[in-house]
Amino acid sequence: MDVGVIGAGYVGLVTAVGLAAQGHRVRVGEADAERVAALQAGNVPFYEPGLAEVLNTVRGRGLVTFHASNRAPAEESAVVVLAVPTPPNGDGSADTSIVEAVSGEIAQYLRPDAVVVLKSTVPPGTTTRVEDVLRRYASTAAVVANPEFLREGSALEDFFAPSRIVLGSHDDAAIKVMLRLYSAFDVPVVTTDPVSAELIKYASNSYLATRISFANEMAALAEATGADIRAVMDGVGHDPRIGHDYLNPGPGFGGSCLPKDTRGLLATGARYGCDLPLVQAAVDVNSRQLAATVDKIRRAVGGDLRGKTVAVWGLAFKAGSDDVRESPAVALAEAVLAEGAEVVAHDPLAAPVNHGIRRVAAAIEAVKEADVLLVATKWPEFREVELGDVWHAMRGDAIVDARNWLDARLAAACGFAYYGIGGRIA
Ligand code: UGA
Repeated sequence: MDVGVIGAGYVGLVTAVGLAAQGHRVRVGEADAERVAALQAGNVPFYEPGLAEVLNTVRGRGLVTFHASNRAPAEESAVVVLAVPTPPNGDGSADTSIVEAVSGEIAQYLRPDAVVVLKSTVPPGTTTRVEDVLRRYASTAAVVANPEFLREGSALEDFFAPSRIVLGSHDDAAIKVMLRLYSAFDVPVVTTDPVSAELIKYASNSYLATRISFANEMAALAEATGADIRAVMDGVGHDPRIGHDYLNPGPGFGGSCLPKDTRGLLATGARYGCDLPLVQAAVDVNSRQLAATVDKIRRAVGGDLRGKTVAVWGLAFKAGSDDVRESPAVALAEAVLAEGAEVVAHDPLAAPVNHGIRRVAAAIEAVKEADVLLVATKWPEFREVELGDVWHAMRGDAIVDARNWLDARLAAACGFAYYGIGGRIA
């Protein structure tokens, strides 16, 4: 099928490359001319495992092309996927103005029977607004809400093996076209109205966030009572009604989606006069978790961070990604900087961050003369560093492991004062 994708960001590019790998002819429209040039040369502007390789295969076969104008992607395609940003407004609601502007722009080029697919995460009602915009420009194209559930770091894997496909539209013919586009997937398809499809996305991310905050809340109670959160969550997760996923305590959820979408859902609730106390609590617990972690670092150096050196392992919002958007690791580093500490950090991939944070090329280099080591991201390489070497390199003897990532017993055996999350360990 001929497919247009508007927006070569994270979602757009993974979708375009994935569909091309399935044999569709994909034309990508992207406003950033530099990005277009990079992609035409086969360079992916962010890190995502496997993406560059698959991109180059499909480029070689002529299945994906990149365009600085949206005209060809709109004009030549049976299906046009909108994957443009929906940045947050001041009140947390998602700004859909780019979605609407692009809809107006492509309306003049769309085929009469085209299907416009809304993949950007949008508040309920946006699909209908896109439809209104198209009609205003006399386009007869149908619109389908089709949220994505890709995780950074495993986005291609998630593309090829999705848990489900969600299609929201009142137009049966458009749904049929989408089923044809996705015929290679043998997964449950939820076909519904546009508003429900839009809400499925917000509800999914907010539920994941709620589970993480629940785990973090239990971690605080485990610390207070002398329990070990890892055993607690393991015991809880074996209940098949609950499961183990998204119950790992940490420094709080971050990234470009969970924080933004929980706030987006709260703003939607406020707009409709509907209180969402659970989602609000998930957001509040998340802020508290960050503050509690800073408190732990402060206590680990004797109560005052002024003049102390904090080594930070990990800056990305999670391992397997270079993304530092709303990264708890960066927020922690910035918080201790603000209290007068010096921060020396190592991350194998993270994009550039706050200039106050001194980046070094190796994990062991970061800990030299440090008073405390903060483990903020679960990069596998951190587990390979000899803790004995870390002990010798550091000035202090404290490790705050905000991810329960290192071997706590070994750390204690080496002489470290080890502070995990929700732990009785050491
Ligand atoms: C999330 C969702 O998982 C995807 O399904 C969704 O498509 C995506 O947002 C999106 O809306 O685009 P992502 O932001 O890539 O994906 O990250 P996750 O792997 O879900 O992690 C989010 C945050 O939660 C990270 O900071 C992670 O460290 C934290 N987390 C996750 C925990 O603290 N504990 C856990 O048990 C799991």
